[in-house]
Amino acid sequence: MTGVSGRIKRQRVDLWLIKNMANSDKFTEGSIRASLKQGIIGRELIFYEKTTSTNEKAIEIAHNTQPGTEIEGTVIVADAQEQGRGRFGREWISPPGVNLYFTVLLQPKLSPKEASMITLMSAVAVVSAIRECTGLNASIKWPNDILVGGRKVGGILTDMKADMDRVAFVAVGIGVNVNMLLGTLPDTLKSFITSLKEEKGETINRVKLLVLIFDKLEYWYAALQAGNKKALIREWLLLNSTIGNMVSVKTEGDIISGMAEGISEDGELIIKLPSEDTKKVYAGEVTIL
Ligand code: BTN
Repeated sequence: MTGVSGRIKRQRVDLWLIKNMANSDKFTEGSIRASLKQGIIGRELIFYEKTTSTNEKAIEIAHNTQPGTEIEGTVIVADAQEQGRGRFGREWISPPGVNLYFTVLLQPKLSPKEASMITLMSAVAVVSAIRECTGLNASIKWPNDILVGGRKVGGILTDMKADMDRVAFVAVGIGVNVNMLLGTLPDTLKSFITSLKEEKGETINRVKLLVLIFDKLEYWYAALQAGNKKALIREWLLLNSTIGNMVSVKTEGDIISGMAEGISEDGELIIKLPSEDTKKVYAGEVTIL
């Protein structure tokens, strides 16, 4: 291709490439709606280009909804968060244009004691969707971390309102580092955090991954509501990278070390102590030793 007409053709090809590359991760309310399947998860979708925190928005909705109005399955998605929250009051880094930040409102038929099954279920959904979408060997670190190659690629923050014997609602906040590049992170975080793009070496379509997570949530939530905890725990055991390791768990006011032996029917981590006694931990932060 030479001369003026060759240059014009080349410019057209370049323009086409620029346009389509920009669209390859088009993350808008319209593109999400167009990919949604019918089901409980996502039957109401609220999309923000930027918000404080999708968990805060979800809690606001749950509190302000008139009695009798269905909130189950409502999803709040944001392209960026200004006050993204992680566990233990930590900040969740939430820049625009690269990651997934969303919260799912659920009203499960569970007692408050069983509510951690929702975190387990969400971790199973996220890890299986990441594996299917990217082929990466993602795994669950109990209770809510999503790892790839030993570094954190995602997390789950479950806020709950409950009475004595019944969960009123749970707001399951999910963050996945999808196309964020590590170069943009503070040095202190680089050894703990990664993204799917860093691991896979290519841009991941966020809408595709989001909708796949919804599908997996739909499946496992139905199983849980039908009382099939055993199947969920079996799947969790297949996808986790905690059990079978020596761990140290920081709980409120205590540090417990031992062998992570399994999880209980209510999602507690079972640890075998050096004394051979076992201890169940309901919540905490695990370090694999
Ligand atoms: C963790 O500490 O691992 C949990 C991180 C959860 C982050 C998500 S991003 C969407 C939702 N909104 C928030 O403010 N936090 C959760």
